[in-house]
Amino acid sequence: MADQSLKNKKIVISAGASGIGLATAKVCLSRGATVYLCDLNERFVNKLKKHPLKNKRLFVSQCDASNEYDVSNFFEEINKKTKKIDALINNVGVAGPTGTLEKLESDDWERTLKINVISHFYFTKLAIPMLKKNKGGSIINLSSGAGIMGFPLRSPYAASKWAVIGMTKTLAMELGKFKIRVNAICPGTIKGDRMVRVIRDKAKFLKVSKKLIEKDFVSMASMNCWIYEEDIAKLCSFLISADGERVSGQTIPVDGNATRMD
Ligand SMILES: NC(=O)c1ccc[n+]([C@@H]2O[C@H](COP(=O)([O-])OP(=O)(O)OC[C@H]3O[C@@H](n4cnc5c(N)ncnc54)[C@H](O)[C@@H]3O)[C@@H](O)[C@H]2O)c1
Repeated sequence: MADQSLKNKKIVISAGASGIGLATAKVCLSRGATVYLCDLNERFVNKLKKHPLKNKRLFVSQCDASNEYDVSNFFEEINKKTKKIDALINNVGVAGPTGTLEKLESDDWERTLKINVISHFYFTKLAIPMLKKNKGGSIINLSSGAGIMGFPLRSPYAASKWAVIGMTKTLAMELGKFKIRVNAICPGTIKGDRMVRVIRDKAKFLKVSKKLIEKDFVSMASMNCWIYEEDIAKLCSFLISADGERVSGQTIPVDGNATRMD
């Protein structure tokens, strides 16, 4: 029988006040979990203050995931409420700049790697002792289709998302003996605010219409479809639940079978 209940599970989510992170928080809350989430955007954080489960099973903090000091304060707050957690979802990740590599700025490259890779290190380092105290759990890293394929015009993003896979495979090997499972999810083209910005930037760079770029993005999947934030949320929930208890070290695309990214 399916056991996807998350009752009494304690879950930390980075950059969770909108997009995939928020959809995941909502699914986890609906399945009984307690969620500790942070986000940089004050407006998104404030919006969640009105959530009916706020300060009951939903705890929200403002935090820059790429600032180690902020992340350590966030974990200090969590530690006041619980010493053990069941899961960490390393969701934070920015799209980075659009353009051919020789035209990109080193500041943009560094910022993309800092947020998309080094932030995951900050969260994971502080989460591991809490997962060990729990005698096991799940770490989920948000990679991308760009973490398993090349992605023209988005070299720093692709490099960062391949790095996430390397970190996932390595950690799964380091942490298996502690019953801590580590997996990466590779979302395809998600219907949402991020893709609106990505399509706008690519259309501007290539000097073509946004409609054309949108159609092209969707056609990268052989199912010719958008992916929804909830599709990713439900996989996260499965990986945290008892049903996912022997899945580790995997790179799991949720992309309608994307076959190209150009
Ligand atoms: N949306 C897509 O099409 C797509 C596709 C593949 C992979 N992904 C990956 O999935 C993850 C979530 O994507 P999304 O589309 O929901 O993201 P998003 O761009 O919608 O941003 C989600 C949240 O991240 C927060 N954020 C940004 N920088 C932050 C920082 N430094 N510290 C804390 N919070 C910060 C934002 O305020 C926002 O609330 C990312 O890692 C992304 O790379 C997304």
